[in-house]
Amino acid sequence: MKVNLKIKRYNPETDRQPHWETYTVEVEPIDRVLDALHLVKWEQDGTLALRRSCAHGICGSDGMRINGQNALACKVLIKDVAQEGSTISIEPLLGLPLVKDLVVDMEPFFGHYRSVMPFLVNDEPLPADGRERLQSPEARDRFDKGTWCILCACCTTSCPSFWANDEYVGPAAIVQAHRFIFDDRDHAAAERLSVLNEQFGVWRCRTAFNCTNACPREIPVTQLIGEVKQTLATGRLE
Ligand code: SF4
Ligand code: F3S
Ligand code: FES
Repeated sequence: MKVNLKIKRYNPETDRQPHWETYTVEVEPIDRVLDALHLVKWEQDGTLALRRSCAHGICGSDGMRINGQNALACKVLIKDVAQEGSTISIEPLLGLPLVKDLVVDMEPFFGHYRSVMPFLVNDEPLPADGRERLQSPEARDRFDKGTWCILCACCTTSCPSFWANDEYVGPAAIVQAHRFIFDDRDHAAAERLSVLNEQFGVWRCRTAFNCTNACPREIPVTQLIGEVKQTLATGRLE
């Protein structure tokens, strides 16, 4: 089938503003949008800039807006967003500085990620027998969903609170904080909760649900944010 890709292009060396360009490609209905972008880059315009690595929904590097919805280009099938002859619009993620074409500067996003201490904190010595810190399956389940996150930024860059003020720590960072706050081996929940209780922390979330709808890993992002809010409100880690 033939489809048109309407891609927002921007070259910082020659353009003052982004502009749209349209390319027609021949694809199979079960090809992914990433395959169609590769056809443009490899056969029509090698200057098209985009990030991708794994092409299998694991690395999180090809988040972009496809027909106005944040998604990973390698997980969206052509048949789900287009018919013969129709046009698919493709833009960079919103709310992060634009570098070139579909590439945005992820540093502000990773800055928020780092602010919640996304690593295990436990200064106690390991068990004398040299084994790892054991954890029950139930305790592991408590934070399991947060471990699915691939840091693609589709959630944070679809959030109206983040668009309004990019100092908001954003849903991805809260998911990462949740993953450690509810890990019974970790000892830094209070520090993370303190960060999330600040002006640009979790209370900026207005329960818009865009983050949950955008997440390609099907993480119930808004629910996890709600659990962090609940912990802050009650003072109890449950
Ligand atoms: Fe991506 Fe989902 Fe992680 Fe957000 S929570 S960064 S959408 S994987
Ligand atoms: Fe934003 Fe998600 Fe809250 S979209 S407002 S972080 S529920
Ligand atoms: Fe790795 Fe899409 S290219 S998630």
